[in-house]
Amino acid sequence: METDTATIRVARYRPEKSEKPYFQEYKVPYRKDTVVLDALNQVKAEQDGTLAYRWSCRMGVCGSCGANVNGVPKLTCATFLHEFKGKSLTIEPLANFPVIKDLVVNIDDFMEKLLKVKPWIIRDKQSPPEEGEYKQSGKELDRYAQFSSCINCLLCYAACPIYGLNEDFLGPAATALAYRYIADSRDQGKKARFPIVHDLEGVWECTLIGECSVVCPKGVDPMLAIQKTKILGAMEAPKTMLSPETLKAILPRGGE
Ligand code: FES
Repeated sequence: METDTATIRVARYRPEKSEKPYFQEYKVPYRKDTVVLDALNQVKAEQDGTLAYRWSCRMGVCGSCGANVNGVPKLTCATFLHEFKGKSLTIEPLANFPVIKDLVVNIDDFMEKLLKVKPWIIRDKQSPPEEGEYKQSGKELDRYAQFSSCINCLLCYAACPIYGLNEDFLGPAATALAYRYIADSRDQGKKARFPIVHDLEGVWECTLIGECSVVCPKGVDPMLAIQKTKILGAMEAPKTMLSPETLKAILPRGGE
């Protein structure tokens, strides 16, 4: 296969050496099937072992290799070098996160938010295994299926201008995962999740810019999850304001 050479410009931050971040250029060989992660691996193996970045699966599954490539959040294992032929190529850490070293960012904030939304099935009462699984129809599965494709790569947070301005914003992926469980017919955890997603820093902070959905490498639409969660919240609100008698009279299932 034909080999070419690209110059990549990589953001470096090595707090033990220098307080300020800087850029370093490397020349890397590439072919049609070379991805940005391959180029970083080539640099680390053969040119500069000090370069720090994350990766694991190399197949768009683990979500660990995100970086800003020419300013756009991308999975480096799924971004081909040949797409940038004749252009400059700058690789930076994901925006909106504190940088630990070079391309490695601190994701503690997201991990805390993820735990807060309880991304697992909650049941009021577990039925014993001998009673069998909790059944679900194809239609019920369709309500949340796309949101379960999230790989926690955090490209959506790097693209979200609201999160860039307010780090307390619950943000796209955590809300998409909250909605994934809220919309699951087997789940009964709505009461536990609603105060989190409808908190002051929850879904109502979103102003519908939609960059989260544009950059998602798995076709998840976090903006849609956020809007659906807003609608559910708006439908629930009257229940907290009206008496049980009124609700019984106006709601089809006796106030549910
Ligand atoms: S290395 Fe796992 S998603 Fe890129």
